[in-house]
Amino acid sequence: MATTITITGAGGQIGYALLFRIAAGDMLGHGEKVRLRLLEIPQGLKGAEGAALELQDGAFDLLESVEVTDDAATGFDGCNVALLVGARPRGPGMERGDLLAANAGIFGPQGRAIADRAASDVRVTVVGNPANTNALIAAASADGVPADRFSALTRLDENRARAQLAAVLDAPVASIRRVPIWGNHSATQFPDVTHATVEGRPVLDALAERVGDVRTWLEGTFIPRVAKRGAEIIEVRGSSSVASAANATIEHTRDWVAGTSDWTSAGVVSRGEYGVPEGLVSSFPVRSVDGQWQIVEGLELDEWARGRIDASVAELVDERDTVRALGVL
Ligand code: NAD
Ligand code: LMR
Repeated sequence: MATTITITGAGGQIGYALLFRIAAGDMLGHGEKVRLRLLEIPQGLKGAEGAALELQDGAFDLLESVEVTDDAATGFDGCNVALLVGARPRGPGMERGDLLAANAGIFGPQGRAIADRAASDVRVTVVGNPANTNALIAAASADGVPADRFSALTRLDENRARAQLAAVLDAPVASIRRVPIWGNHSATQFPDVTHATVEGRPVLDALAERVGDVRTWLEGTFIPRVAKRGAEIIEVRGSSSVASAANATIEHTRDWVAGTSDWTSAGVVSRGEYGVPEGLVSSFPVRSVDGQWQIVEGLELDEWARGRIDASVAELVDERDTVRALGVL
């Protein structure tokens, strides 16, 4: 049996960076056949059709079929994995919150189409920004689909955080572990090094030898660098991150399906963990066990960390309230 994967916005930049890696087996493994559904809006169909032609020319052993459509019911029919990428990307000078109204209308109908047509084991990852609140809208619109089947991508933020730590500590990135992202995929996010390790040693100790006052470095350098990395990429490239975002999407989905041996980060629907209001899609430290995200519970949070998390969660509350006021929830 092949896995049916629906990618919205498949004719766009991240879509193009995702499709070939999925077809090559990077996401679900080299033994798993895949059927791809490329869902676009009419203006994006040509891009998706072009990608479909190139997928054919890739002659991928694992690729059973490719279908391009602008009809959500067809696009999500029987889908096991949905990657909701299609949205309007942020341009120079825009904050992610500016995109709420533009994107709110996309994720409600897509959530409904998923509820109507997707397979009973569907897992949905929202990449399109503002990712957390778009995931909230999709989950709330998907009657009958358990809320824990929806998640928002914050793996890119975690990867950025680990890479920054690797650079300052002059250590391999693979040796940096347990750097969860809390809150929103936005400038308020909290990349948390409290429990992080480098080659098995506390990152906080290693940092103290390199950066002087660690709290000052975290507040003034590390956190802004990670949290504003998306804007930095936009500034330098002239458009938002693509290949790194596709890579993080693949890692997130692979871990969700196959399980994790350690913590990672994902935006998941809160059931009140760590005081995050129930129903919000917030990033937490998570593990994946038996195909389900599980929040790592019982971590000690000092006052500073608590304040950082609360600020990001307050932004999520604001986004939810804005969307409610638009009548979307
Ligand atoms: P892009 O403009 O290149 O592609 C977006 C595609 O989505 C376009 O082809 C467009 O036609 C399509 N689209 C728009 N509305 C659609 C709908 N209703 N149904 C299906 N397709 C639709 O943008 P991109 O660079 O691929 O970025 C996509 C999204 O991902 C943006 O919102 C961006 O901000 C976000 N993003 C998120 C992260 C993250 O870490 N969560 C990282 C990078 C980018
Ligand atoms: C990113 O983090 O690179 C994306 O979310 C794009 C953005 O708007 O920052």
